[in-house]
Order: sequence, then C-alpha cells, then structure tokens
Amino acid sequence: MFEAVDVAPPDPILGLTEAFKQDPNPNKINLGVGVYKDASGKTPVLAAVKAAEARMLESETSKGYLPINGDPSYGETVRRLLFGPGSALVDDGRAVTAHTPGGTGALRVAGDYLKVKHPNTTLWMSDPTWANHPAIFTAAGLQQAQYAYFDAGQNALAFDRMLDSLKQVGAGDAVLLHACCHNPSGVDLTPEQWGQVGALLTERKALPLVDFAYQGFAAGLEQDAAGLRALAAKVPEFMVCSSFSKNFGLYNERTGALTVVAGEAAAAQAVLSHIKVVVRRNYSNPPSHGGSIVTTILGDAALTAQWEAELTAMRNRINGMRKLFADTLKAKGANRDFSFITQQRGMFSFSGLNKDQVGALREKHSIYIVGSGRINVAGMTEANMPRLCEAIVSVL
Ligand code: LMR
Repeated sequence: MFEAVDVAPPDPILGLTEAFKQDPNPNKINLGVGVYKDASGKTPVLAAVKAAEARMLESETSKGYLPINGDPSYGETVRRLLFGPGSALVDDGRAVTAHTPGGTGALRVAGDYLKVKHPNTTLWMSDPTWANHPAIFTAAGLQQAQYAYFDAGQNALAFDRMLDSLKQVGAGDAVLLHACCHNPSGVDLTPEQWGQVGALLTERKALPLVDFAYQGFAAGLEQDAAGLRALAAKVPEFMVCSSFSKNFGLYNERTGALTVVAGEAAAAQAVLSHIKVVVRRNYSNPPSHGGSIVTTILGDAALTAQWEAELTAMRNRINGMRKLFADTLKAKGANRDFSFITQQRGMFSFSGLNKDQVGALREKHSIYIVGSGRINVAGMTEANMPRLCEAIVSVL
C-alpha cells in the first residue's frame, strides 16, 4: 500500500523550520515560524513558567486523565483573561471552555463542531489569513469563502471593502476574525470597527469565530482584548479559539482553549456537550502540563506580575525591532519606504517582498521568510539586523 505513495509538499510555515535546520550556513536567519526570540536569538522559557513548574513538581499528586474539556479552573482562567474580571457574560454562565491542544486544536474542534451541528455553514476567512486556517477547515469538511481585509497598495486595512464583503455572509455562516496581531499582515481593526463588524454580523445572523493567539503582543493584555469585548457587546453568540503558545512561551506544551459564548447558560451547556463528543472522538482529553502552568501563574499575584513583566519585555523588544528594521533598511539605501512596518502589530509584518525576492533571500543569503512575504519580526536581533537589511536591499 505504501509503495506508490507520493511525498506531500512541506508545510508553508513549519516546513521552513525543517529546511532552516538543515542549512549549514552559520549566519542563517529564520524569520519564518511565529516564535519569539530574545536579543540573543534564543526562545527562552519564561522565569514565571519555571517558577510555576517548580511548584507543580512539588504539589502534583496524580497523572490521571483530565475531564474531556479540561480542568474547570483552567476554563475559568481562560475566560477571565478573555473577558476581564466582573464580565457579565461569564458571571451569567453564558461562556463555556474546552482546554484544547494549542489554538490549532481549538480551531479544529470548532470546525468539527460546526460540521456536525451546522453542516451547511460556510466559513469566511480574511484575505489573507494564516496559511493553516484553510487547511484546518478543509480537514473539518467546511465550505469556505474569503472576505476582503488587506489593502496591499496602502499596507493598511481595507475596512470599507471588508464590510462590503461581509454583507454577502449568509445566515448561519461563520466568520473567522483575528482578535489582534492579524496573522500574516499585522494590521488590526480598532475597537470601534469591531463594534461595526459585530453589528453587521448580528444583522446577518452569522457566527463570529475569533482566533486570539497573540493577546499581549500588540499593546497589552487588556488593550488587546478590547476588540473581542467590543464584539461581545454586539453579538449574542460567538466562539473564541485562544492560545498560550506565544504569550506564555508554551509552544511545545500545546496549550489552548475553545470558548463558546451563547445567548444563555443552558444553550452554552448544550453546545459544550457536543464539543465534548468531538474532543472524545479526536484526542479524548487534553494534555495537562501547559494548562497547569497557566492556572498556577494566573492564580498567584506575584507570579502574574512576573509574567506580565516578561510579556511586556517581549512586546517592547519586538516593537524596538520594528523601528530598527525600518531605520536600517532606509540607512542601507532601500529604494522603498518601509516605515509602515512600525505601524503593524504583533509578531508579523507583511513586508511586500514577492515570491522571487523571498526565494532569492533563501537561496543566496540563507534568510527564511514565508512565501507570502510575511516576516517574523520577533526573529530579528540587533546582531542579525545589518546582514538582514543588506540582503533585503540587494534583492529589492
Ligand atoms: C505561525 O503562524 O508561524 C505560528 O502560528 C506557528 C504555526 O503553527 O504556524
């Protein structure tokens, strides 16, 4: 059965990491996968995470299975971070959470749930979107469509065109929105625009599905949730797929969550019962370690403060790199204005580099960038910046 099997194409993002690892060039630079690197080019374990793990090692008494939707205290922690303390929809029991293996797991569980309970749903995605989104929802068997999002000429949000395309969304369709740090463009909606989108989707009777993988990387934990909360004020029902990979640096612990908000508590519980069926058939129940780290940190004021300081430092370093990148490109004689990079938010920027330029950077300079021209700013350091910018200027 296996003799005639062809080789699948490499993943557009994680496949780059595989190629990067095999590149013998000692000066290679990986700006592909969205992983944070510190000033020395390392992806650190946060000190708050280490401290939480030390406590867990002392206090853990069992490796027994978690409930299908995870530890209830993890769900509470997730909801508090998403909606803030004192959120009425949380207090009213309208939100339920399943602990999932990463944000990707949450997206797939959401897709499977929609396919089971709402098989005719079309899932609308921004143009462009994260390269894995279409693949996840294709695997779930959902029909898909695109809405306008990014104006490449202006390097800005195409908000009027976005609203125009969302007016085509049908009743019972789902619309995937990036809560902040849009991946790949780094261009976000303002809270006011979130309110407008929420009002429109309510009118269309469509379900928002919010991908929230970068809370804390744009402006701050609360500020980055402002869009989601503005949406929540307008729409009665929605889903959130969140992740702690980036903001806790828990990439390999696969720590995410699917949170469903319904009009009332009974409806939320009914949806959760089906989510549990989907999870049980898929991976049975979630891995525990990453969730325990998050719950331990956010359940302790001192650890929370330590984590928030580390998150702030990551955000500030990335923003510093944005400015240094734009300035260095200018200083090296780039024939294009890259100052828009300082306006984009989160780990990524859409550089505007085309496929040939991305290919030349890889072949000639061992610089790895996603084919769309998406650059992981968090992979830049003061040390690699001159070489990076010289190489980009040479391929422009
Ligand atoms: C990315 O977009 O690079 C990250 O979300 C990592 C991934 O899984 O693709």
